Amino acid sequence: MLQKPRGTRDFLPDEMAQRRTAEATMREAVGRWGYGEVCTPTFEHLELFTMRSGENIKQEMYVFEDKSGRQMTLRPEVTASVSRMYVNEGRSIAKPIRWYYVADCFRYERPQKGRYRQFWQFGVELIGADSAAADAEVIMVADDLLRSVGLDYDLKVGFLAPMKHLLSGVEPSLQRQVMAYLDKRDMDGLKGCLETCGQVDLEDSLTGLVSCRGPAEAFEICGDIPEKERVEGIFRVLDGEEIDYTVNFGIARGLDYYTGMVFEGFAHNLGAENQVLGGGNYRLAQLFGGDDAPSCGFAIGFDRVMVSLGDYPLKKDPVVAVLSQPGLEAAAFGVARTLRAAGIRAEVNLLGRGMGAQLAHAAKAADYACIIGQREAEAGTVTLKDLHSGEQREMKPDEAIVEVKGVGAC
Ligand code: HAM
Repeated sequence: MLQKPRGTRDFLPDEMAQRRTAEATMREAVGRWGYGEVCTPTFEHLELFTMRSGENIKQEMYVFEDKSGRQMTLRPEVTASVSRMYVNEGRSIAKPIRWYYVADCFRYERPQKGRYRQFWQFGVELIGADSAAADAEVIMVADDLLRSVGLDYDLKVGFLAPMKHLLSGVEPSLQRQVMAYLDKRDMDGLKGCLETCGQVDLEDSLTGLVSCRGPAEAFEICGDIPEKERVEGIFRVLDGEEIDYTVNFGIARGLDYYTGMVFEGFAHNLGAENQVLGGGNYRLAQLFGGDDAPSCGFAIGFDRVMVSLGDYPLKKDPVVAVLSQPGLEAAAFGVARTLRAAGIRAEVNLLGRGMGAQLAHAAKAADYACIIGQREAEAGTVTLKDLHSGEQREMKPDEAIVEVKGVGAC
């Protein structure tokens, strides 16, 4: 038996209905903040990602050569694509630009629970606003989206400048290593790394920074850096709007394009792969040949959100099974069409079985049976049977519509 590719999933209708319902809730929420949906290609030129992140990133991507010998890749994320799109199409649009996307991404990772090779992101990019208010808005949109679907999670907000300031004397490749240890809160690893680069004296201030509970403590450690006002401004807005978050100046983020504010979200009930949100400030437009457009955004890992939510409540519309005696299929199709025109989900029997077998099947899959026998076909009526109560009555199709829609009783 042929299997699906490793790290991918198939979704059955019930799961898709749950995903679509949650997605629709998030779409409504993001729309209320004024963000409009964009769509970019599923595959891009490889360069779009290697330009910023270097050739090593190829190991984590689905890279291929097209028939004309171009180096292409399935998108591992959407921020670079949106920045490219801004450079290609959006420069004349009034700023700030508020865009969002729901898109599948592809990463060649080792699959495990919550980590897939094809997964969906619900993301937002705010382009052309360089202010504490803009940073705070993006964080609040993310929080609103996750709360709108009822997710229980922790929001962590940081800023790279204090950490970068402390590490300004350290060589860039070692800086990255130190930041990665801080990000993982691997204090033993940090110590070893600082020893290697002869910077042991930084240990106290770096560990102090990671455990700061607010910006004031961070500035005591790193001094009055130029970004101080911006950092304080962001937290002022978040506090004013009563956003539930914790400060974390140890966040470094895996992607290497972040420039200022960084933030992450972690679901409470997931295992190792519990990060459901990541984002921050970046400037990619210039790299892709555009003007310098300060940007801020995030992506929600939609699949992890769905795992965390578990059985997402669905509004189930009643299902009507339209059953007919052999030879009366045309009447059944007509009645089903009338029901559908009224917005009711109607399924016609397709297997040509006897009425008893049809009813037994309908009892498992539907809420009502709409039965058409010889008498009903001649009288232009149907017998509507409530499959939960067992009650049934002959009536005109119009009356059946009223019954199924919940006005009156069977
Ligand atoms: P990211 O942190 O790489 O950021 O991904 C965002 C989210 O996607 C993660 O927090 C996680 O929930 C989900 N995710 C990542 N990889 C996987 C995977 N293999 N399986 C399932 N879920 C996964 C970005 O992609 C940035 N583009 C976010 C951003 C937008 N920054 C600024 N604007």
